Amino acid sequence: MAKPDAVTEALTRVLADSYALYFKTHAFHWNVTGPTFFSLHEMFAAQYNEVWTALDEIAERIRALGGTPPSGPSALGRYATIAEAEGNLEANAMVRELYAGNQAALKTIKAALAAAQKAGDEATADLLITRTEAHDKHAWMLKSTLAD
Ligand SMILES: [Fe+2]
Repeated sequence: MAKPDAVTEALTRVLADSYALYFKTHAFHWNVTGPTFFSLHEMFAAQYNEVWTALDEIAERIRALGGTPPSGPSALGRYATIAEAEGNLEANAMVRELYAGNQAALKTIKAALAAAQKAGDEATADLLITRTEAHDKHAWMLKSTLAD
């Protein structure tokens, strides 16, 4: 198998963090409790659906570049910087954890964007800028939920 180049390797890290954040957001959608249940349940759904759609675009970009995305969650997890949630958290702790997760995804995306720009790969850079906008928006909404 061909050795992955810097761009496909960086995109694999973006796919892995996006998947980890997708799953964590979906699990919090299931498990959130308390007086803010309904609004958080709905906001988490909007966010995990957005990230789920992006997973396909990121993986297909890896294929278009000649790479092969990992074929399962454990293989993908080896590339992730976002850890699974431990135990069941109270609602505000879930929001803080998802805010941190979006910031971690943004860091991984920024590194991939630098790799794409260095390689002159404008299409991948465009995808990564779109992902930056999406995670900036998710992070803004999460942070606004925590404001007094
Ligand atoms: Fe649901």
